[in-house]
Amino acid sequence: MTLFDDPPDVLPEGVALFRQRLSPDAQRRALDTIAEVIAQAPLFRPQMPTGPYMINTLTNCGERGWVSDKRGYRYQETHPETLQPWPAIPPEVRECTCDAVREAGFGDFEPDACLVNVYAADGRLSLHRDYDEADFKWPIASLSFGNDADFVIGGLKRAGKTQTVRLRSGDVLVFGGPSRLRYHGVRKIVPGTSPLDHPILPPDGRINLTLRRAA
Ligand code: SIN
Ligand code: FE2
Repeated sequence: MTLFDDPPDVLPEGVALFRQRLSPDAQRRALDTIAEVIAQAPLFRPQMPTGPYMINTLTNCGERGWVSDKRGYRYQETHPETLQPWPAIPPEVRECTCDAVREAGFGDFEPDACLVNVYAADGRLSLHRDYDEADFKWPIASLSFGNDADFVIGGLKRAGKTQTVRLRSGDVLVFGGPSRLRYHGVRKIVPGTSPLDHPILPPDGRINLTLRRAA
């Protein structure tokens, strides 16, 4: 390491960050496949059980998709507005994610849900835990595209110390093991940091995919 490198990220046990796992070309190809997902399963803005609407828009691919409304958070097999089944997870997205999950030591991951979160320049995601999946032995794996994001990792309780990791376009983050139920969120999107333009990236925004084993 030279004086000019970023210091290495020191992450809690169970969190693995694969920086620049997708090349800019691979990122563009992945976003092309997500554009097809969005064409079939339009982005929507879910309502939280407590009443307000989420800041980000989202959609899903895979057998199940994460949704939220007044009845609560859950996975379901159909889009809440079109009532159609979700499109399949694009094979390239699935493969690069499963490779990273295997390298992180979590074995043969078979995701059945992929949440597509679209952040505008002012997008964020408040501190939460991913708690709606059947078996927490499977990690959550996230792929980032577009502008950098300040991703916050907290503890197993909402209050307490947090650390911030900058997620960049092309990074893959695997979040599992003893960290699977840590609180986490996205504090802010960093303007002007995207290495790529793509028609589905909002101006100065970001897209994140999280692949999960929901059932
Ligand atoms: C999530 O926690 O579900 C999404 C994380 C991200 O956008 O990086
Ligand atoms: Fe999450």
